[in-house]
Amino acid sequence: MINKGIILAGGSGKRMSPLTKAVNKQLLPIYDKPLIYYPLSILMLSKIKNILIIVNKGQVEQYKKIIPNGKNLGIKITYAEQDKPSGLPEAFKIGEKFIGKSNVSLILGDNFFYGQSLTKNLINCTKLKNGARVFLNQVKNPELFGVAKINERKKITKIVEKPKEKFSNYAITGLYFFDNKVIKYSKELKPSKRNETEITDLLKKYLSKNQLSAEIIGRGGAWLDTGSIESFYETTNFVSTIEKRQGFKIACLEEISLLNKWISKKHIKKQIVFYGNCGYSSYLKKLL
Ligand code: TTP
Repeated sequence: MINKGIILAGGSGKRMSPLTKAVNKQLLPIYDKPLIYYPLSILMLSKIKNILIIVNKGQVEQYKKIIPNGKNLGIKITYAEQDKPSGLPEAFKIGEKFIGKSNVSLILGDNFFYGQSLTKNLINCTKLKNGARVFLNQVKNPELFGVAKINERKKITKIVEKPKEKFSNYAITGLYFFDNKVIKYSKELKPSKRNETEITDLLKKYLSKNQLSAEIIGRGGAWLDTGSIESFYETTNFVSTIEKRQGFKIACLEEISLLNKWISKKHIKKQIVFYGNCGYSSYLKKLL
């Protein structure tokens, strides 16, 4: 069972400047809650309770204002800092001590997932013992993404970063499950031309050993990457449309904890005091 997860929530946020000059992207709002709530909710839906959040140097205190330690959510949150955004595989070097001898999940702080059988698929992935697994989602414009080809047993047979020639429509999303060898492999990586270590190179290590598999998000599911201003607002519109229609909130952390039986109504009451008088608190009151 994978019971440890990392959220990579640093980054330079260049595409969203000047919005990201003073505030990290993951603290900006997607509709009614900070972006960081969404990837955190995904780990919590995976029943992962031990979570490391990696943020940019000097930003821990800001994050702690909104997610202090996880106690009221029935989970354990640890923070670590990244000196500068020098690549996604850095997560496993920074997180080496946190990971220890376990397997681990990684989610990028700006990735949004939603859909019917998502929780079932997530739980399935936490059973991974050896190798690595990535979430794939079909896209219309694969040339903009890391792309994977799969066989009938959902094994990945080829990956190419931003392919010039189309060979598959499956984009590699920002949600990954790794065995413990990820620490060793990420240490072996050399920086690419843009002077960052690349997640594609890390995945290729598993691919070369025929140990890379896929979990597919079907057409009933949504994966949105909130990296650009355009996609940021598209995600906000998506969340607001669904929440207004259904009356359910997407990524209400307290609701997930309550459903997982990690907290009691007493903790929800504390969170209502923490948030103060707002729409999010009104929703929490309805859970009581
Ligand atoms: P990127 O897609 O590289 O985006 P970014 O946030 O750095 O923004 P931009 O490209 O506009 O400059 O990163 C994806 C996610 O991973 C994002 O949430 C930031 C995070 N990240 C880190 O925390 N550390 C890193 O070293 C990198 C490369 C990304």
